[in-house]
Formats: sequence, structure tokens, C-alpha cells
Amino acid sequence: MTRLLARRWPGAAVVGIDNSEAMLSKARAAASDLANVRFEARDLATVSPERSVDVVYSNAALHWLPDHASLFPRLARTVADGGVLAVQMPRNFDAPSHVAVAEVATSERWRARLATMVRASPVAAPEAYFRWLEPHCASVDVWETIYLQRLAARDDGEHPVVAFVSGTWLLPFFDRLGDDVEARRNFLGDYRERIARAYPREPDGSTLFPFRRLFVVAVARTR
Ligand SMILES: C[S@@+](CC[C@H](N)C(=O)[O-])C[C@H]1O[C@@H](n2cnc3c(N)ncnc32)[C@H](O)[C@@H]1O
Repeated sequence: MTRLLARRWPGAAVVGIDNSEAMLSKARAAASDLANVRFEARDLATVSPERSVDVVYSNAALHWLPDHASLFPRLARTVADGGVLAVQMPRNFDAPSHVAVAEVATSERWRARLATMVRASPVAAPEAYFRWLEPHCASVDVWETIYLQRLAARDDGEHPVVAFVSGTWLLPFFDRLGDDVEARRNFLGDYRERIARAYPREPDGSTLFPFRRLFVVAVARTR
């Protein structure tokens, strides 16, 4: 993503921000030939550029942060007059893939260890973003897309949706179970049972995974 932005605007100074060193080192390697890019390890919850920037672009990250009612206006206020805040976030929290996480975590077997990890959707309704941004912006465009991801069959036989969610939404639950390998295996087993019912495999072993994403593009107004 950062690479695309830097090549689209070769005259711009592009700063890529993430709080994961692993992600930053991948990104640095992918953009090492571009002179106008640098990366910084920062928490998006507190980041605030010293001077107004022309574009704030965030892909698939802000759904990890709470309190969007404050976060979005704050980000919009870091953009120069006529500049753009552009954000994409998954809004798939009502899908069976996410509902099943909460169901398993609050089931009798896991409640004591995992129920406190269940959190409400951090991403609000589209109208909320319009209302939060409108006072700071010349225009606000908000839309959603639901597209059908075809997740390919995996060599290890794992259900493709289980593999997908294991790398994202399930990570804090695994962290909470720590080194208890058996508990992690059993938790994943309970989750897999629900997912296999909700997302049947196609004849070739792939799985169709409808996914909803929210897009916000706002032009800042400082006067
Ligand atoms: C799905 S990845 C998207 C990465 C990248 N934006 C892209 O489009 O390829 C989500 C990223 O959000 C980052 N992230 C989550 N919470 C964050 C925070 N509070 N501050 C900075 N980065 C955060 C994670 O480290 C992770 O790299």
C-alpha cells in the first residue's frame, strides 16, 4: 500500500505507520528502493503529525482501535485544507465467522478464561462516520461493499475460514490461553465445529466467505 502511494506521488514525503515491528520490517523491505518513504513504529491511538499532512490513508487497521467518535475527527484535523482522509476497515462483525468467536468464548467450557476478551464491534454504522466527520470536512463519502472471497482449500486440510480468522480476530484469544497448547487446540476445535456448519466447503474444497468492508473518503476543511 505504502509503495503504491509513494509511486503515485513521487514528490511527496510518505510516512508509513504501524505498531508492529514485524509488519514494519516487511514494509521497509518492500519499499527499500523508494527514496521518499520512511516508516515509524507508532501507536495510531496517539499519533499526531507536527504539521498538517495532505493525505491520511489507512487500510485495514483502525478497526483495532477503540473510540472512533474521537479518533476519526482527530485524524481529520491532522489533514490540511483540501487534503483527504481515506480509510478502509472490515465491518464483518455480524458475520458467522465473528459471532462464533463470541459464542465459543462465552460457552460454559471457556467462559471463565475467555469471556472478558469478547468485545463489541469497534466499527460503527456508516452514518456515524458521516456525522463525526462532517463538521471538519468539505465532503464526506461513505460506502460499504460485501464481496465474496473464495478461500482456497489448504494443503494442511484446515478449514479456510478458520485459518483466516486464526491470523486475525482469534489472536488475542490465543494470547490469553498462553502456553496451554491443549486448551488452544480445544478452543480452536470448538470454533471449527461452528464454522464448518456456517461455511460449507465447495466441491473443490474451497470456501465462499462473504466479507463486508466500510470505506470513508473525506476532504478536510480547516476554514
Ligand atoms: C490487517 S493489518 C493491515 C496492515 C497494512 N495497513 C496493510 O494494509 O497491509 C492491520 C495492522 O494494524 C496494525 N495495528 C493494530 N493496532 C494498531 C495501533 N494501535 N497502532 C498502529 N498500528 C496498529 C497491526 O500491527 C497490523 O499491522
